[in-house]
Amino acid sequence: METKVISSGIKHSRLPESYIRPESERPKLSEVSDCENVPVIDLACGDRSLIVRQIGEACFCFGFFQVINHGVSKDAVEKMLQVAKEFFSLPVEEKLKLYSDDPSKTTRLSTSFNVKKETVHNWRDYLRLHCHPLEKYVPEWPSNPSSFKEIVSNYCAQVRQLGFRLQEAIAESLGLDKDSIKEVLGEQGQHMAVNYYPPCPQPDLTYGLPGHTDPNALTILLQDLNVSGLQVLKDGKWLAINPLPDAFVINIGDQLQALSNGMYKSVWHRAIVNSDKARLSVASFLCPCDHAVMGAPKALTADGSPVIYRDFTYAEYYKKFWSRNLDQEHCLELFKN
Ligand code: OGA
Ligand code: NI
Repeated sequence: METKVISSGIKHSRLPESYIRPESERPKLSEVSDCENVPVIDLACGDRSLIVRQIGEACFCFGFFQVINHGVSKDAVEKMLQVAKEFFSLPVEEKLKLYSDDPSKTTRLSTSFNVKKETVHNWRDYLRLHCHPLEKYVPEWPSNPSSFKEIVSNYCAQVRQLGFRLQEAIAESLGLDKDSIKEVLGEQGQHMAVNYYPPCPQPDLTYGLPGHTDPNALTILLQDLNVSGLQVLKDGKWLAINPLPDAFVINIGDQLQALSNGMYKSVWHRAIVNSDKARLSVASFLCPCDHAVMGAPKALTADGSPVIYRDFTYAEYYKKFWSRNLDQEHCLELFKN
């Protein structure tokens, strides 16, 4: 039987045709080098102005950084990874109860990226959850494994606090009042993608996720410590971001690029797969509330700098994002003045 997901437990001996990228779009893995100078920011170093300066520099030069001593407990992180592994090890029939390829569903298991829109598929299954407010969404989350709801809600609540601390530091690094970004974003939504990349028979022909930027405000990514796969685009070259113990990878999403008037970059990133190990990652996305209007704060353009993007609501942006394919031009380009 052909199943809709690739985490079926069956070992794949060859890559199905529908996953093979045309030659020019392949990952060219031999040309990728390790990123040697990933900014690693210690959030417990005790020197606030240093943290703010490091974050500002990282957002400006890279669009991403890693954080350590971030306040999310080791226990919460370990349990999150463990329960995610258990979920993807469930029998495929059990997982398929949650399957949907409708991006508007708030809890769903899916595969690739946007199965209905894309022409070539990606070697990924993912569980996508809305996570805020928890009381609203937890009831629809998986109840198998039985500890899933408790572990994931605890993780989400801690990650949310980290996200807010980072947004405060990001605002300060732009010379703005610390609460100003949070105020523009309103009551933020929170989504999670638990990504599972099974071993892939021909990793050089396909992607786990092709190059993309995240459409939200801020992404907090937990990577499986044992398997690399995340790469970011820096000065036109793809660089591998190898997992660092007890760290999160933080990346600026499209909305913070817009709010910073283009100063901070929503970084292009991708996930590649490998032939012998399954890889897991947990991406938490903080998203503006639907009616939040994304416009650069006046203070950033007071010096006469041009206003790069027109005002738009996040609802408008999100609709546009999901109506497209991942490997098209940057969605933000469509909102330029
Ligand atoms: C994502 C993402 C990267 C990874 O889910 O948006 O970029 O390493 N994931 O899984
Ligand atoms: Ni992403």
